[in-house]
Amino acid sequence: MIKVIEDRFLLETENTSYLFRCLPSGHLEHLHYGKKIIISDDFRPLSKKIAYLPGNTIAYGKNCPTIGLENMALEMSSLGKGDIREPFIELQTSSGITTTDFLYDSHTITCSKQDYVGLPSSYGSDEEVTTLVITLKDRYSECTLELYYHVYYQTDVITRSAKLINTGTDALFLDRLMSTQLDFDHSAYKMTTFTGAWVREMQLNHQMIQAGTLVNSSRSGVSSNRANPFFMISAKNATETGGSCYGLNLVYSGNHYSAAQVDAFCKLRVVSGMNPMGMRHTLEAGDCFQSPECVMTFSDQGFGGMSRNMHQFIKDHIVRGVWQHKTRPVLINSWEAHYFDFNEAKLMRLAKKAKQIGIELFVLDDGWFGNRNDDTTSLGDWNVNNKKLPGGIEGLSKKITELGMDFGIWVEPEMVNKDSDLYRAHPEWAVEIPGFEHATGRNQYLLDLTCLDVQDYLIQSMSKVFSSGAITYVKWDMNRIFSDCHSQNLPAHRQSEFSHRYVLGLYRVLDALTKAFPDILFEGCASGGNRFDLGMLCYMPQIWASDNTDAVSRLSIQEGYSYGYPQSVIGAHVSDCPNHQTLRHVPLETRYHVASFGLLGYELNLSDLGSSVLNRLKQQITSYKKWRKIFQFGDFYRIENPTLPGGYNWMVVDEDQKKAVGAVFQKEAMANQMDLIFYARGLDPQTTYHFYNIPTKHNVKLFGDLINTASPVHIKNGSVVQHLVSKVYQLDGEHEDHYVSGSLAEFAGIKLKQGFGGVGFDASVRLFEDYASRLYYFDRAIGGNTNGTFKTDL
Ligand code: DGJ
Repeated sequence: MIKVIEDRFLLETENTSYLFRCLPSGHLEHLHYGKKIIISDDFRPLSKKIAYLPGNTIAYGKNCPTIGLENMALEMSSLGKGDIREPFIELQTSSGITTTDFLYDSHTITCSKQDYVGLPSSYGSDEEVTTLVITLKDRYSECTLELYYHVYYQTDVITRSAKLINTGTDALFLDRLMSTQLDFDHSAYKMTTFTGAWVREMQLNHQMIQAGTLVNSSRSGVSSNRANPFFMISAKNATETGGSCYGLNLVYSGNHYSAAQVDAFCKLRVVSGMNPMGMRHTLEAGDCFQSPECVMTFSDQGFGGMSRNMHQFIKDHIVRGVWQHKTRPVLINSWEAHYFDFNEAKLMRLAKKAKQIGIELFVLDDGWFGNRNDDTTSLGDWNVNNKKLPGGIEGLSKKITELGMDFGIWVEPEMVNKDSDLYRAHPEWAVEIPGFEHATGRNQYLLDLTCLDVQDYLIQSMSKVFSSGAITYVKWDMNRIFSDCHSQNLPAHRQSEFSHRYVLGLYRVLDALTKAFPDILFEGCASGGNRFDLGMLCYMPQIWASDNTDAVSRLSIQEGYSYGYPQSVIGAHVSDCPNHQTLRHVPLETRYHVASFGLLGYELNLSDLGSSVLNRLKQQITSYKKWRKIFQFGDFYRIENPTLPGGYNWMVVDEDQKKAVGAVFQKEAMANQMDLIFYARGLDPQTTYHFYNIPTKHNVKLFGDLINTASPVHIKNGSVVQHLVSKVYQLDGEHEDHYVSGSLAEFAGIKLKQGFGGVGFDASVRLFEDYASRLYYFDRAIGGNTNGTFKTDL
């Protein structure tokens, strides 16, 4: 909802208010963004009180002698008129002027969300979104700045973007155009960012905001695993369940920049947008430049409340197409099973085992084209390797489909190897500075996506691949960051536009292909999570979160993602042990439990597994399918559990609060451990639920020599006898089974069976070794009362 009362602007969502006003000078004074407030038409209590200008500050102008822009909360800040903080915009006119002063000119309100040309953005029906556009004019140049505000009432989200239009006759040089600026009255906040590297994505950092500037940015060409564009600003005492928390993210896949700056008057300025470093864009007369959309949400329910706002917004207004709300298939991916070393027979063996255990989609990863037997060659040559696959993609996909599974394929279209027919035919299509040695990443070069011919080639070559068989899924990979940025197709003065133009070129390709193949399920990937962002999610409903498939590493990675992204977009696979990235051994159940809080897949050589392991995988998949809707689309809760030190505690709850699944993940086992209590979140306090786990069987090998305290015959640890015994005899795991109200489960907690402490073991003890975990199910109980005579909905 948007209301304008004379010079005052009120933007409201269900639980938040965003207010600003136009000062007599024409600047926009920011007044409030946060919890919804009741306000009359009189905004004066919110306005800054100015009686005099402090010494050593700049007086804005003769007509407003007491306005000092350095100490004002503003909707956008120009450069050069006294505001010396992070600017919203930086430009230079062709006569060299760099001072700007954008002042209010007019505004419009519409009940819709228009598209941004060339850039992906959120979308919503006319009932869901209202738009305010404020037009500002610069006093020093002939250009217009439009500030866009899109208000999504129901999801408590406001998005912002800006457009600069050169209305003059001379060229302009744009050096910065942010997407949003939020000025806070004080700086008692912390900034939380999610940084990392390859196989170590999304590691959370809480940083106190003090004097100076905190920056979260990427200059790698992509949104990057080094610093995801999503970040939070929260009250210093905010927790998972309480306190003010803002979440911000960009609908953009390239270089980004967000800064939290404390000024001389202890106000906080937050800006977020494209990375301005080296981005100069030339705008000829009549040209315009749109900054990517920034998504902002606020919750006074702490990090958890903010996350759930973001999740809902992404599910409803970012992800689109036939897969938007559709549950995703359980897949097997050939990468960690066979890497480059496969042929049709091997793949079919893998596929048959996959089918046997209930897998629904077979994904052929890297290595199927050109001479691609390692990572030095063939990117760009998208012709099937007939030595490996004599029947081509068509033949293989037919065989897989006949088995009763869908078929998917891996591609890395944005890249070229020097050793490829494509490079030999079109060396000018590779990103290279002619005459200089180029740095490679994974032996490959970027294709110059700023060039229309390259874009068209990609659309045409990928259309051919996607039509070459019964393909229902595509994994779109991208395995290097940018270096030696240069296009042989751009003039010298536009080379600084390379990175943004690349991203726009990519979006054009993705737009064309996803429109041409609307039924294909696309999964984004960039060495795992190197391009995990809202821009990609506008085209691809899911993204491979990390090349790290180790479940223990995945706990912090997936929890990191969960702050800003819903489970329905996070690809997560069960892989082999020892794990290929960490060489760690993690119990199979835990590998499944972690992956089930995402889009479950398997990525290991099933053909090498014995029947008992395959049976366990089959049980996992059967159970996941039963609960899949909740795992993928339920409301997600991170639970701070003081009885699980160092561990992780997650829960997903279905929309109507009838069913839920909770999980506890332990890191190292603790001797003589404290009582573990399960504290639920998100349940209906009044409803009674059947709370239970599915007991597991424990392998006698887990007990080693200790088994001899119970065994009638001596079993030597590591012996053949121990191995044979483990085949026929397993120990029963504990069973939890209670009827509890939602309020009991949340506010008192459910005391679980005692953990193993070296003093005997039976089914009343929870064997909780290193990296152990449990899933607990909640089913609404019906037709009874608290005397235990319930039935459940299932
Ligand atoms: C990187 C991806 O993240 C992996 O899953 C795999 O697809 C490889 N590339 C293949 O080269």
